[in-house]
Amino acid sequence: MSLPTLDRRLLRGSALALSACGPKAASQPVPPPVPPLRTVAPFPIGTCAQALHLDDPAWTALTLDQVDQLTPEWQMKMEYIVQPDGSFRFDAPDRLAAFCQTHGLRLLGHTLIWYAQVPEAFARLDESRVSFEQAYRNYILAVAGRYRGKVVGWDVVNEPVAEDGNGWRDSLWSQRLGDFEHIALAYRTARQADPDAALVLNDYNLEYNPKKRATFLKLAERLLASGAPVTALGTQMHIAADIPRGEITAMMRDLGSLGLPVHVSELDVSIVRSKGWLTARPELERKQLATYVETAEAFMALPASQRFAFTLWGLRDGQSWLRGENDTDTPNLFDVHDRPKPVLGALGQIFSS
Ligand code: XIL
Repeated sequence: MSLPTLDRRLLRGSALALSACGPKAASQPVPPPVPPLRTVAPFPIGTCAQALHLDDPAWTALTLDQVDQLTPEWQMKMEYIVQPDGSFRFDAPDRLAAFCQTHGLRLLGHTLIWYAQVPEAFARLDESRVSFEQAYRNYILAVAGRYRGKVVGWDVVNEPVAEDGNGWRDSLWSQRLGDFEHIALAYRTARQADPDAALVLNDYNLEYNPKKRATFLKLAERLLASGAPVTALGTQMHIAADIPRGEITAMMRDLGSLGLPVHVSELDVSIVRSKGWLTARPELERKQLATYVETAEAFMALPASQRFAFTLWGLRDGQSWLRGENDTDTPNLFDVHDRPKPVLGALGQIFSS
């Protein structure tokens, strides 16, 4: 679908927003509401969640309306689970898991191993008592084992590829266990803990950097060749509105070429990470819509069996992690008053076609 064919829908979307607050509201025909994404998409729609969101009835209503899957935004990471003394805490992830069970949502575990998070307790491990490898495996067995049957899958290793695409990340894990071996070990151990979970390899900038993408795909192939059970590929897609057209399509095609299911795992489209955002905001908002549209179309072009899920990194502008960088960013599908932006209708139209 090309952008012009969406115009009618976009106009209806803006009429909806105006009719909600303008003085002529009573005299204008009210357009039908845009259907929730989960009701039209032929694959799961996801978003991220924190336990505190569950206490917000407006968040809960919007989320249950739109999505079928949650990814914990940070409370299933080591930063939350591993305490300074090396013990584990699970209260927030348990709450999220219970919420998913109550409401019939899928839960995607995020994330077991991440170069960016190396708790002190691992760094100062006394190897005379427990070997580093044992502690590493114990962690994965404890966490993935606890949520066995409750998660649909895990981002087992997050962001394994070096920023410039030259090989793999250097981290405490790679230094202690080997750069390839620690990744393979994580997948083998996660499989031991949960025989049914999808085991995802997840990374970012795969659309911006073809070299990083090639290394990512090579890593997936090498893991599979070694017997490490990678069962899906995750592409985060924290992108800016001014990404050149075609890059997302090329990435999706390449990721699809391995035959594994693909997870659009953390999609948001930043305005303020784009060049010239201060002066070109309306133009960038149009580009933001076109970027979401390209992503949805590229995902729809994958065979149905390869569409793992389409996850938005938040639904509401006001709660985006990108607001920590710049509190005027508006990267999501709903504005700060929870009103849908035209992009919601555009995605719905693509997913239902
Ligand atoms: C971010 C969360 O959105 C923040 O709330 C948290 O403080 C830091 O992490 N790549 C990932 C996500 O895999 O886990 C990150 O999420 C965004 C980048």
